[in-house]
Amino acid sequence: MDFDAPFPSMQGPLLQRIVDDLADKGWSQQDAFLPDALIARLATECRARDAAGKLAAAAIGRGEGQAVREGIRGDRIQWIEPGQSEACDLYLGALDALRQLINRSLYLGLEDFEGHFALYPPGAFYQKHLDRFRDDDRRTLSAVFYLNADWREEQGGALRMYLPDEQTLDLAPIGGRLVLFLSGEFPHEVLPASHERLSLTGWFRRRGDSSF
Ligand code: OGA
Ligand code: MN
Repeated sequence: MDFDAPFPSMQGPLLQRIVDDLADKGWSQQDAFLPDALIARLATECRARDAAGKLAAAAIGRGEGQAVREGIRGDRIQWIEPGQSEACDLYLGALDALRQLINRSLYLGLEDFEGHFALYPPGAFYQKHLDRFRDDDRRTLSAVFYLNADWREEQGGALRMYLPDEQTLDLAPIGGRLVLFLSGEFPHEVLPASHERLSLTGWFRRRGDSSF
Protein backbone atom coordinates (compact mmCIF):
# COMPACT_ATOMS: atom_id res chain seq x y z
CA MET A 1 0.00 0.00 0.00
CA ASP A 2 1.45 3.33 -1.08
CA PHE A 3 1.03 5.34 2.09
CA ASP A 4 3.16 7.65 4.20
CA ALA A 5 2.22 6.46 7.71
CA PRO A 6 2.28 9.26 10.31
CA PHE A 7 2.78 6.62 13.06
CA PRO A 8 4.52 3.23 12.94
CA SER A 9 1.33 1.65 14.29
CA MET A 10 -0.54 2.76 11.14
CA GLN A 11 1.16 0.22 8.93
CA GLY A 12 0.14 -1.81 5.88
CA PRO A 13 -1.57 -4.82 7.55
CA LEU A 14 -3.70 -2.68 9.91
CA LEU A 15 -4.71 -0.31 7.13
CA GLN A 16 -5.46 -3.17 4.77
CA ARG A 17 -7.72 -4.74 7.42
CA ILE A 18 -9.59 -1.46 7.79
CA VAL A 19 -10.14 -1.13 4.05
CA ASP A 20 -11.13 -4.80 3.67
CA ASP A 21 -13.49 -4.69 6.67
CA LEU A 22 -15.22 -1.55 5.45
CA ALA A 23 -15.63 -3.02 1.96
CA ASP A 24 -16.90 -6.40 3.26
CA LYS A 25 -19.11 -5.47 6.19
CA GLY A 26 -19.18 -1.67 6.61
CA TRP A 27 -17.40 -1.52 9.95
CA SER A 28 -13.99 -2.24 11.46
CA GLN A 29 -12.32 -2.46 14.86
CA GLN A 30 -8.57 -2.10 15.24
CA ASP A 31 -6.56 -2.14 18.46
CA ALA A 32 -3.29 -0.27 19.12
CA PHE A 33 -4.11 2.21 16.35
CA LEU A 34 -1.86 4.90 17.89
CA PRO A 35 1.08 4.80 20.35
CA ASP A 36 0.30 4.51 24.07
CA ALA A 37 2.14 7.75 24.83
CA LEU A 38 -0.17 9.72 22.55
CA ILE A 39 -3.26 8.01 23.99
CA ALA A 40 -2.10 9.03 27.49
CA ARG A 41 -1.60 12.64 26.38
CA LEU A 42 -5.05 12.75 24.81
CA ALA A 43 -6.64 11.28 27.95
CA THR A 44 -4.84 13.83 30.13
CA GLU A 45 -6.01 16.62 27.85
CA CYS A 46 -9.61 15.41 27.93
CA ARG A 47 -9.60 15.33 31.74
CA ALA A 48 -7.91 18.76 31.92
CA ARG A 49 -10.49 20.29 29.57
CA ASP A 50 -13.23 18.81 31.75
CA ALA A 51 -11.62 20.06 34.97
CA ALA A 52 -11.48 23.54 33.38
CA GLY A 53 -15.21 23.34 32.68
CA LYS A 54 -14.80 23.22 28.91
CA LEU A 55 -16.71 20.01 28.32
CA ALA A 56 -20.45 20.64 28.13
CA ALA A 57 -23.48 18.37 28.29
CA ALA A 58 -23.91 16.92 24.82
CA ALA A 59 -26.99 17.84 22.85
CA ILE A 60 -28.92 15.73 20.39
CA GLY A 61 -30.11 16.91 16.99
CA ARG A 62 -28.84 19.84 14.99
CA GLY A 63 -29.29 23.61 14.72
CA GLU A 64 -32.54 24.86 16.24
CA GLY A 65 -33.67 21.32 17.01
CA GLN A 66 -30.79 20.84 19.45
CA ALA A 67 -31.61 19.86 22.98
CA VAL A 68 -29.82 18.37 25.98
CA ARG A 69 -31.66 15.23 27.08
CA GLU A 70 -29.89 13.33 29.80
CA GLY A 71 -32.34 10.45 29.36
CA ILE A 72 -30.92 9.93 25.88
CA ARG A 73 -27.23 10.73 26.34
CA GLY A 74 -25.27 11.66 29.46
CA ASP A 75 -21.82 12.45 28.12
CA ARG A 76 -19.97 15.78 28.15
CA ILE A 77 -18.15 16.88 25.00
CA GLN A 78 -15.90 19.50 23.48
CA TRP A 79 -15.17 19.77 19.75
CA ILE A 80 -11.51 19.68 18.75
CA GLU A 81 -10.07 22.18 16.29
CA PRO A 82 -6.65 22.32 14.62
CA GLY A 83 -4.10 24.33 16.61
CA GLN A 84 -5.53 23.69 20.09
CA SER A 85 -2.81 21.27 21.18
CA GLU A 86 -0.03 19.19 19.74
CA ALA A 87 -1.71 15.93 20.80
CA CYS A 88 -4.99 16.85 19.08
CA ASP A 89 -3.12 17.95 15.97
CA LEU A 90 -1.33 14.60 15.86
CA TYR A 91 -4.68 12.87 16.15
CA LEU A 92 -6.25 15.01 13.42
CA GLY A 93 -3.23 14.32 11.21
CA ALA A 94 -3.54 10.57 11.72
CA LEU A 95 -7.23 10.66 10.85
CA ASP A 96 -6.62 12.79 7.81
CA ALA A 97 -4.05 10.29 6.53
CA LEU A 98 -6.62 7.54 7.12
CA ARG A 99 -9.26 9.58 5.28
CA GLN A 100 -7.06 9.91 2.21
CA LEU A 101 -6.18 6.24 2.22
CA ILE A 102 -9.84 5.18 2.53
CA ASN A 103 -10.79 7.53 -0.28
CA ARG A 104 -8.18 6.02 -2.55
CA SER A 105 -9.36 2.48 -1.86
CA LEU A 106 -13.11 2.82 -1.40
CA TYR A 107 -14.15 6.00 -3.21
CA LEU A 108 -16.32 7.19 -0.35
CA GLY A 109 -15.54 10.81 -1.22
CA LEU A 110 -14.73 11.75 2.39
CA GLU A 111 -14.03 15.48 2.43
CA ASP A 112 -13.34 16.38 6.02
CA PHE A 113 -13.52 15.29 9.65
CA GLU A 114 -15.29 16.74 12.67
CA GLY A 115 -14.68 15.31 16.11
CA HIS A 116 -14.97 15.90 19.82
CA PHE A 117 -13.68 14.64 23.13
CA ALA A 118 -16.38 12.78 25.01
CA LEU A 119 -16.41 11.99 28.72
CA TYR A 120 -19.06 9.69 30.13
CA PRO A 121 -19.21 9.92 33.93
CA PRO A 122 -19.95 6.61 35.70
CA GLY A 123 -23.51 5.53 34.90
CA ALA A 124 -23.86 7.73 31.80
CA PHE A 125 -25.03 6.16 28.56
CA TYR A 126 -26.17 7.05 25.05
CA GLN A 127 -29.32 5.33 23.88
CA LYS A 128 -29.61 3.51 20.56
CA HIS A 129 -29.25 5.94 17.65
CA LEU A 130 -27.91 6.51 14.15
CA ASP A 131 -25.15 9.09 13.63
CA ARG A 132 -26.70 10.61 10.53
CA PHE A 133 -29.04 13.56 10.99
CA ARG A 134 -32.40 13.51 9.23
CA ASP A 135 -31.73 16.91 7.65
CA ASP A 136 -28.01 16.48 6.90
CA ASP A 137 -26.55 13.32 5.42
CA ARG A 138 -22.91 14.44 5.18
CA ARG A 139 -21.74 12.20 8.02
CA THR A 140 -20.54 9.11 6.20
CA LEU A 141 -18.05 7.21 8.35
CA SER A 142 -18.07 7.32 12.15
CA ALA A 143 -14.72 7.00 13.96
CA VAL A 144 -14.52 6.38 17.70
CA PHE A 145 -11.11 6.22 19.35
CA TYR A 146 -10.94 5.15 23.00
CA LEU A 147 -8.59 6.67 25.56
CA ASN A 148 -9.12 4.33 28.54
CA ALA A 149 -5.88 2.72 29.73
CA ASP A 150 -6.30 -0.64 31.51
CA TRP A 151 -10.02 -0.86 30.81
CA ARG A 152 -11.56 -4.15 31.90
CA GLU A 153 -14.66 -5.60 30.24
CA GLU A 154 -16.50 -5.91 33.55
CA GLN A 155 -16.36 -2.11 33.88
CA GLY A 156 -19.05 -1.96 31.16
CA GLY A 157 -19.27 1.01 28.83
CA ALA A 158 -19.39 -1.11 25.69
CA LEU A 159 -20.32 0.28 22.32
CA ARG A 160 -23.22 -1.98 21.31
CA MET A 161 -23.47 -2.27 17.53
CA TYR A 162 -26.70 -3.44 15.88
CA LEU A 163 -25.67 -5.56 12.93
CA PRO A 164 -27.80 -7.11 10.17
CA ASP A 165 -29.97 -10.15 11.04
CA GLU A 166 -30.71 -8.86 14.55
CA GLN A 167 -27.18 -9.57 15.70
CA THR A 168 -25.56 -7.31 18.26
CA LEU A 169 -21.92 -6.93 19.10
CA ASP A 170 -20.47 -5.30 22.23
CA LEU A 171 -17.08 -3.61 21.83
CA ALA A 172 -15.26 -2.59 25.02
CA PRO A 173 -13.83 0.98 25.05
CA ILE A 174 -10.24 -0.19 25.43
CA GLY A 175 -7.55 2.47 25.11
CA GLY A 176 -6.03 2.51 21.62
CA ARG A 177 -9.03 0.85 19.98
CA LEU A 178 -10.43 2.53 16.87
CA VAL A 179 -13.93 1.63 15.72
CA LEU A 180 -15.12 2.75 12.29
CA PHE A 181 -18.59 2.22 10.83
CA LEU A 182 -20.80 3.61 8.07
CA SER A 183 -22.76 6.33 9.85
CA GLY A 184 -26.08 5.76 8.08
CA GLU A 185 -26.14 1.99 8.41
CA PHE A 186 -25.42 0.92 11.96
CA PRO A 187 -27.63 1.83 14.89
CA HIS A 188 -25.55 1.68 18.07
CA GLU A 189 -25.60 2.66 21.72
CA VAL A 190 -23.20 3.29 24.60
CA LEU A 191 -23.86 1.15 27.68
CA PRO A 192 -23.28 2.61 31.15
CA ALA A 193 -19.92 2.01 32.81
CA SER A 194 -18.76 1.83 36.40
CA HIS A 195 -15.82 4.14 35.61
CA GLU A 196 -15.27 7.37 33.72
CA ARG A 197 -15.12 6.58 29.99
CA LEU A 198 -13.12 8.76 27.59
CA SER A 199 -13.07 8.88 23.81
CA LEU A 200 -12.46 10.98 20.76
CA THR A 201 -15.53 10.57 18.60
CA GLY A 202 -15.90 11.96 15.13
CA TRP A 203 -17.21 11.72 11.63
CA PHE A 204 -15.71 11.78 8.18
CA ARG A 205 -18.07 13.79 6.05
CA ARG A 206 -18.93 13.94 2.40
CA ARG A 207 -19.66 17.15 0.61
CA GLY A 208 -23.26 18.29 1.18
CA ASP A 209 -25.76 18.80 -1.62
CA SER A 210 -25.79 22.54 -1.06
CA SER A 211 -22.16 22.90 -2.15
CA PHE A 212 -22.60 21.24 -5.54
C1 OGA B 1 -21.65 9.02 19.54
C2 OGA B 1 -21.40 7.60 19.87
C3 OGA B 1 -19.95 5.84 20.66
C4 OGA B 1 -18.94 5.56 21.70
O1 OGA B 1 -21.02 9.90 20.18
O2 OGA B 1 -22.44 9.29 18.62
O3 OGA B 1 -22.20 6.78 19.45
O4 OGA B 1 -18.55 4.37 21.82
N1 OGA B 1 -20.31 7.21 20.57
O5 OGA B 1 -18.53 6.47 22.41
MN1 MN C 1 -23.19 7.55 17.73
